[in-house]
Amino acid sequence: MDKFLIRGGQSLKGTIEISGAKNSALPCLAATLLSAETVTLHNVPYVKDLITQRRLLEDLGATVLTPELRTHKVTAKNIGTFEAPYELVKTMRASVLALGPLLARFGRAKVSLPGGCAIGTRPIDLHLKAFEQLGATVSLESGDVVARAPKGRLTGAEISFEKVTVTGTENVMMASALAKGKTVIHNAACEPEIEDLAELINKMGGRIKGAGTPTIEIEGVEALSGAEHTIIPDRIETGTFIVAAAITGGELEIRKCEPKHLQAVIEKLRDSGVEIEELNQSSLLVKCGAKGLTAKDITTEPHPHFPTDMQAQYMALMTQAEGISVVKETIFENRFMHASELVRMSAKIDFSGNTARVHGKTRLTGARVQASDLRASASLVLAALCASGETVIDRVYHIDRGYENIVRKLGAVGAKIERISESPTTAAATE
Ligand code: UD1
Repeated sequence: MDKFLIRGGQSLKGTIEISGAKNSALPCLAATLLSAETVTLHNVPYVKDLITQRRLLEDLGATVLTPELRTHKVTAKNIGTFEAPYELVKTMRASVLALGPLLARFGRAKVSLPGGCAIGTRPIDLHLKAFEQLGATVSLESGDVVARAPKGRLTGAEISFEKVTVTGTENVMMASALAKGKTVIHNAACEPEIEDLAELINKMGGRIKGAGTPTIEIEGVEALSGAEHTIIPDRIETGTFIVAAAITGGELEIRKCEPKHLQAVIEKLRDSGVEIEELNQSSLLVKCGAKGLTAKDITTEPHPHFPTDMQAQYMALMTQAEGISVVKETIFENRFMHASELVRMSAKIDFSGNTARVHGKTRLTGARVQASDLRASASLVLAALCASGETVIDRVYHIDRGYENIVRKLGAVGAKIERISESPTTAAATE
C-alpha cells in the first residue's frame, strides 16, 4: 500500500487546474448504458473510481475508447450481461448507478448490494423503493439486488424521496428517462452533478426538466441517441485547494473551476478570514487574510448548503483558526475518523455523536497517520502541509479514488509531498 510523505511548512504559491468532477463523471458514464449509440464524454478525471466505472461498462459488454486520456467514447450497443458483481461494488459503491440505466433499457439488472462502508451503513433502500414505484420488481438474491421491469419497460410515476439522496435521484432520472409516460421526483437532490447528468441525458434526446431543483420532471422517451458532453469541474477538489492555500498561508490561483457550484463553501471560508477573489467565471485567487483565521461553525446539509464532502477538509482548516468551531455532520454517521488522526497531529478536537468541537489555533506536528476514506485523506494531506516536521499518511489508495494527480498538483505549487511505493524493489517513487 502506497503512502504519502509530506514535509510541512511550505506556503503554496502558483496556479492549480481543477479536473472534471468525479461525482458527475460516474453517473454520466453509467448513463451511456441508456443508448446503443456512442456517447463521448470529455473532462473525465483520471482517478481510480473512474477506472473502476470504465471496467464495469466493459464487463457489461460496452466498448470504451479513450482517444485522449480524459475523453471516453462509450458504445453500449452489445450489452451481454446485466450484472455489477460484488468485486466491483465492494470497491466502489457508485457501481449501483448501473441499476437505473440497465433496468430502463433492458428491463433487468443485478447489482451486488453494497455493504457497510467507512462512513456509515449507506443503504440503497430509497433507490429500490423508487424502482418499485416505477413498476419494477426488486428482490434480494444471495446478496445481489435483482430488479426486473415486468413487461420489459418501466412506467412513469410520482416519486417522493423521504430523504435527499444524490445517487438515488440520479438512478431514478436514468431509469425514468426511458420509462413509459411521465415521472416526477419530489425532494430530489439539487447538486450540480444532477444538473450535469440531466444535461447529458437531454443531449441524448431525453426530456428532463427541473434538474438542480427539488422537483424534477422526466418525460420518458422510446430510445436515446449518442451525444457529446463535457463534465463539470470538481467542486470538492476546488474547495480542497482553496483550503490548501489558506492553511499554508499561501496564494493560489485556481483555474478551470466553477465557483457558483461551491458558494456555501466560499462564503463560509470568507467568513472565517480566507480571501477569495473571483477573477472570472472559472478562476479564483485565494490567500489567507492578513488577520488570520477565525473559528466559524458549520453544519453539513444537502446542496446548496455546506457539503459533507468538504467537512473533513474544513475541520483541518479550523485547527488553524482562533477560537472554537463546532462542526456538525448531518448527512453521514461515523464521518469523523479524520478527527482522531488530526488529534495525533496535536489538533485539539473533541467529538461525540455527530458534533465535533475544534479548539484552535494549534500548532500541528507531523505524525504517522492513516487515511480512512476519500475526504478524510484530503483532510490529513491539508493538515500535514501546515504541520511542522514530517507526516506519513498510510492507505492513500483512498485519495487515489477521487483526486487526480494530487501529488503532482501540490508539488508544482511548492508542497513537499511524495508518494512512497511499498513494493519490495522501489523504496520511493514520486507520482
Ligand atoms: C453522494 C456522493 C458522495 C456524497 C453524498 C452526499 C456520489 C458518487 N457520491 O453519495 O460523495 O458524500 O452524495 O452528498 O455522487 N440514504 C438512505 N437510503 C438510500 C440512499 C441514501 O438512507 O437509499 C442516506 C445515506 O445513508 C445518507 C443520506 O441518505 O445518510 C445521503 O446519501 P446520498 O445522497 O444517497 O449519498 P450518495 O449518493 O451515496
